[in-house]
Amino acid sequence: MAIVLQSLQLLIILSVSYICLAFAQNKNQFIYNGFLQANLQLDGSAKILPNGLLQLNSISTDQVGHAFYPLYFKFNTTSSSGLTPSLSFSTNFVFAMVPQLPKIGGHGITFFISPTKNFTNSTEYPLLGLFNFATIGNASNHILAIEIDAVQNRDVGDIDNNHVGIDLNSLQSIEAATAKYFSNKDGKNISLELLSGNLMHLWIDYDEAEKLLNVTLGPTTIPKPNRPLLSKHINLSQYLLENMYVGFSASSGTVGSDNYILGWSFNKSGQAQSLDVSKLPLLPQKGKTKVKTGLMIMISLIAVTLVLITIGGAAYILRRKKFEEIREDWEREYGPHRFTYKNLYKATKGFSDKELLGVGGFGKVYRGILPSSNILIAVKKVSHDSKQGMKEFVAEIISIGRLRHRNLVQLLGYCRRKGELLLVYDYMPNGSLDKFLYKNEKLNLNWFQRFRILRGVASSLLYLHEEWEQVVLHRDVKASNVLLDAELNGRLGDFGLAKLYDHDTDPKTTHLVGTVGYLAPELTRTGRATTCTDVFAFGAFMLEVACGRRPIELQGLPERVILVDCVFECWRKGAILDVCDPRLEGNYVKEEMELVLKLGLFCSHSMPTARPSMRQVMQFLDGDAKLPELPNDNACFGKKSEALEYLLSFPKSSGQGSAPSMFSTDSILKSGR
Ligand SMILES: *[C@@H]1O[C@H](CO)[C@@H](O)[C@H](O)[C@H]1NC(C)=O
Ligand SMILES: *[C@@H]1O[C@H](CO)[C@@H](O)[C@H](O)[C@H]1NC(C)=O
Ligand SMILES: *[C@@H]1O[C@H](CO)[C@@H](O)[C@H](O)[C@H]1NC(C)=O
Repeated sequence: MAIVLQSLQLLIILSVSYICLAFAQNKNQFIYNGFLQANLQLDGSAKILPNGLLQLNSISTDQVGHAFYPLYFKFNTTSSSGLTPSLSFSTNFVFAMVPQLPKIGGHGITFFISPTKNFTNSTEYPLLGLFNFATIGNASNHILAIEIDAVQNRDVGDIDNNHVGIDLNSLQSIEAATAKYFSNKDGKNISLELLSGNLMHLWIDYDEAEKLLNVTLGPTTIPKPNRPLLSKHINLSQYLLENMYVGFSASSGTVGSDNYILGWSFNKSGQAQSLDVSKLPLLPQKGKTKVKTGLMIMISLIAVTLVLITIGGAAYILRRKKFEEIREDWEREYGPHRFTYKNLYKATKGFSDKELLGVGGFGKVYRGILPSSNILIAVKKVSHDSKQGMKEFVAEIISIGRLRHRNLVQLLGYCRRKGELLLVYDYMPNGSLDKFLYKNEKLNLNWFQRFRILRGVASSLLYLHEEWEQVVLHRDVKASNVLLDAELNGRLGDFGLAKLYDHDTDPKTTHLVGTVGYLAPELTRTGRATTCTDVFAFGAFMLEVACGRRPIELQGLPERVILVDCVFECWRKGAILDVCDPRLEGNYVKEEMELVLKLGLFCSHSMPTARPSMRQVMQFLDGDAKLPELPNDNACFGKKSEALEYLLSFPKSSGQGSAPSMFSTDSILKSGR
């Protein structure tokens, strides 16, 4: 039992000493939240308890104790710099007077400033450990004291047995008041009982310029009250000497108290820091025998441990819940592409709005920094409700993750949670191309940059269609899905996502993938995506980049609504260059511009088989093949009807902002070629 108690005691000491960190001190100030690390000079009954409590005296009668800060401070110097008034000081401390019997105890505690640390002759009852009957009242004491007095000593004119007073060289207070504090909240004074055993906070501030000494009392549960308990004009230069010590004294009489100081802050050159009440040591349990106390501690410890375990468990469960993911066996083979939710959570600072890159039809995109590698990533948070097709989708996503092309936004991996899929991509510092083309928030791209972007995106589509092990359909080629890397290279992103989003709940309606304005006419009829429908969308994209216009714009003249019609009309009139983006201000390579516009028309052919393949598109762009003459036939490019038909099924606003993508549950990957 003894060993258990001892080790428990040790445990308490260790834990409390951990809490009671004293702060590094400079010459003019110090703060002790508990006194374990404090280098105080003690005498008499004063001692520092293992938990860091300063006990000035205990219940045993007729005890006097002192505690000093070991070094003196400069007060009352004639060579005052003028910057820091040499007599000003500020201090606050937390104390407790724990009486032997309720409301009966004594005598009290003082904070004092004294030229000496030698109080060996000041042990006589009942002079608070500051004086003896010979020295009391002598001006050569040079002592300022603030007494916290729980005994009414009529010899020195005490007002009652529950007061605070200002003493100079004597216990005859020059100013005293019954213990109370001003409640800022209630706007009135509330009385306090010194001998309650409760923690109390006392602030003492002296301003040399004002010659004003303020003493403010309050419970530790509130901040410093706005009004002091005592406020007294004193010319301290008449009392204090140059080198002065600061400290506490306490004495107890026939019926004693345990007088404690829990923390102390002092500043000679400014406002003293306020104590952190939460860091103060705890008062010992009162009125129990040692064994009972031990038992109490043990029971409390067990209780605390149980509570901690419960809290810890709850926190653990909450944490688990917070970072909960869905993993299934079949995903094991995709191990390396799987990110933990916790890491993504950390990377995006908890999916903070500050890291939000954009909000699209599929969900929000966040920027993040992977904690382990410091790699910048973009995390797309896609919500999905149904489990249906998820396995196939994730499998396809993983397949897509194996795609490698310098003009594709690299998919790094994914994470799956309930109702949520997170896709992790390379971060593209320059954002999406449409912002450069329309929004005027980014710089204008010159023709060289635009042409390079078109070639890059064309080569990535060629890779998807023909150069990888399987045919991959993008299904949603458009400017807002082309992202620009640091060197303004175009990178195709967002492939395959379309299929996750089951846009239409009516099973009779064809599920469509893509965006209005980029949809091939046969796609709107059959709902079947092919490489040809990707080529069609790429054609619209080419015209978009060359003309700096969306494929469909509802604003403006009716003949300008559909870009491809507009381009076709200009071509028919023999003035195809009229449609190119005015922001280019004529700075482009004429042949390239003409090629891009004509090729754009070519890709927009209403007959899928009449469109070039992506390989041919590449060859035309590279000048390796000559573009055939376009048929001068309105019907070939007349997609007015289909496009408008679809448009009308959307709210008007769809044509003005970025047109929404439409989605399908078909496979992204087209098996067999
Ligand atoms: C005050 O104290 C000084 C120094 O201890 C002593 O010389 C002096 O006589 C005392 N004065 C009185 C009135 O006791
Ligand atoms: C003392 O209290 C008075 C009244 O509240 C206040 O005006 C003054 O600034 C205080 N002085 C110091 C040094 O705290
Ligand atoms: C304060 O006391 C000193 C020393 O006795 C004196 O020189 C000074 O004039 C006093 N100041 C005031 C404002 O009374």
